[in-house]
Amino acid sequence: MARRDPHSFTDDTQAQTESFALRARIDFATQTIAAEVVLSFRTPGSGRLDLDTRDLAIDHVEDAAGRALAFVVHPAEPHLGSRLAIELAEPTPSIRIRYRTSPDASALQWLAPPQTRGGVFPFLFSQCQAIHARSLIPLQDTPRLRVRYTAELTFPRELQAVMAAAERGRDDNGALATHRFEMPQPIPPYLFAFAIGDLASRDLSPRCRVWAEPAVVDAAAYEFAEVEAMIGAAEALFGPYDWERFDILTMPPSFPYGGMENPRLTFLTPTVIAGDRSLVSVVAHELAHSWTGNLVTNANAEHFWLNEGFTMYAERRITEALEGAEMAALSAALGRRELDESIERFAKQPGMTRLRTHLEGIDPDECYSLIPYEKGYMFLCAIEAAVGREAFSRWLRSYLDRFRFGAITTEDFEAHIEAALPGMLAAVNAREWLDGEGIPASAIAPVSARLDAIEALAGKVPTTDVTKAWSATEWALYLENVPRPAPEATCLMLDERHQLTASTNYDVLVPWLTLALKSGYTPVLPRVEQVLADVGRMKYLRPLYTALAADPSTRELAQSIAGRNRAAYHPIARQVVDSILRVTP
Ligand code: BES
Ligand code: ZN
Repeated sequence: MARRDPHSFTDDTQAQTESFALRARIDFATQTIAAEVVLSFRTPGSGRLDLDTRDLAIDHVEDAAGRALAFVVHPAEPHLGSRLAIELAEPTPSIRIRYRTSPDASALQWLAPPQTRGGVFPFLFSQCQAIHARSLIPLQDTPRLRVRYTAELTFPRELQAVMAAAERGRDDNGALATHRFEMPQPIPPYLFAFAIGDLASRDLSPRCRVWAEPAVVDAAAYEFAEVEAMIGAAEALFGPYDWERFDILTMPPSFPYGGMENPRLTFLTPTVIAGDRSLVSVVAHELAHSWTGNLVTNANAEHFWLNEGFTMYAERRITEALEGAEMAALSAALGRRELDESIERFAKQPGMTRLRTHLEGIDPDECYSLIPYEKGYMFLCAIEAAVGREAFSRWLRSYLDRFRFGAITTEDFEAHIEAALPGMLAAVNAREWLDGEGIPASAIAPVSARLDAIEALAGKVPTTDVTKAWSATEWALYLENVPRPAPEATCLMLDERHQLTASTNYDVLVPWLTLALKSGYTPVLPRVEQVLADVGRMKYLRPLYTALAADPSTRELAQSIAGRNRAAYHPIARQVVDSILRVTP
């Protein structure tokens, strides 16, 4: 038995899936999918085959000749799901599995019409990272194994299906529609993604289209209008864009993440639609994953920093190219603050503050934090500072080239950089970064005059003259800097002068509401309640619920708000909210 990913039953001595063909019938009434998948192997497989599944009902398994195969669905193991063990009696190039998903499939959120903007049609979307693809398809759910696929989705004809794949035509038949897709580039299973709902689209450029519910599609088209320029900037930095299209799907408000880099079709929270393009760094981030993450992929979640640390670096290089070094430095400064907070949050699990982690027995959703993002970013900046921008950029291009369409570990990264830039790892104390806890003392702080100006305010309330040119990042940095609890007079003056409670920019609003809650400034409570009812993005739920739960006078309110909204939150967000309300005293 050779299991090389702590989050998968995949055994690399067994047959390896090269591609799959999925046919899935989506039933909104029962919130289930009845499906058939054909897994094709690199070379004909025989003997045992272990697949990952979670909450799947397996009805039938057969080989390429149509002979039924014996199989066992083992009892579910914590975090992993159930091993589906199939006996390949004779060598076979492929197997066919008929199965049904559960209404609790962890990769899916089924939204009733009232949970959508339009309020008339239901909506369904998938979110497979890190290990939820197995609740949709029985497969080898590890990023070590890339797969191509075709998919055929059948659903009510009044709806529209989109996939992180190439579109291959749609047929309507009676009350149903069947839409075909194909993913020609090999992807790790966590990048399998689709959504079905009442969707409209606008073309932004020949290779970029934005999808959203009809009521928001124009706002989305305005917000993301500059995406083609972003791709141009990214290509100049990291090489040609390899995925043909870069479309964007604006998600329902319950989408638990800011964005998800599903190839060809990035999923984005609607909270980035601020009306002034001020939050498009999330687009830069997901676009950057087209190189760092989707082309060069972490071999398993223990090396997640290779995905997200590199992507933060790439995101800020795009920001620097389009908006200047100051904006990139402000983003890095905010990242540093968030990193410090995350490291504090993991004080009792310091192992989670390493870049190279050990996750045997640990659910990747439960240990999710910004540490791999921001500490990974700082580590790469340390190397860049040591070798110089030019040499680092050259190395980065060679790294992307060497590992494109691969899946790698931290050790692969170390070996590659050691060969290209000998002695560099030792020079920056790489072991301390990779395997040490917390942040090395040698870490470099971002330099920015605008950051200095914010710090000089030392939490004093600025005039509107000072703030009129502030970006959302500057507001967030300022608000994070205000010592808490802040006196009531400070909160009052801040709010009256800057109308913060009325802000519709969530990256400003939520840091303000958090500061106000931590200062016992109760006039914000109705707005806090509204935000917690309107959005399900974990970045906003976490600080607001944490602040509410930490104060005995609002703890019960936190429970009742969660009680009312819990059912509308995404299953992953629900887990996070529950754990906050459980542990905060
Ligand atoms: N790939 C992540 C989202 C993710 C990570 C989903 C792990 C599931 C498991 C995505 O690229 C991301 O990092 N999103 C950030 C965006 C931000 C850093 C700009 C988010 O959601 O906050
Ligand atoms: Zn990311």
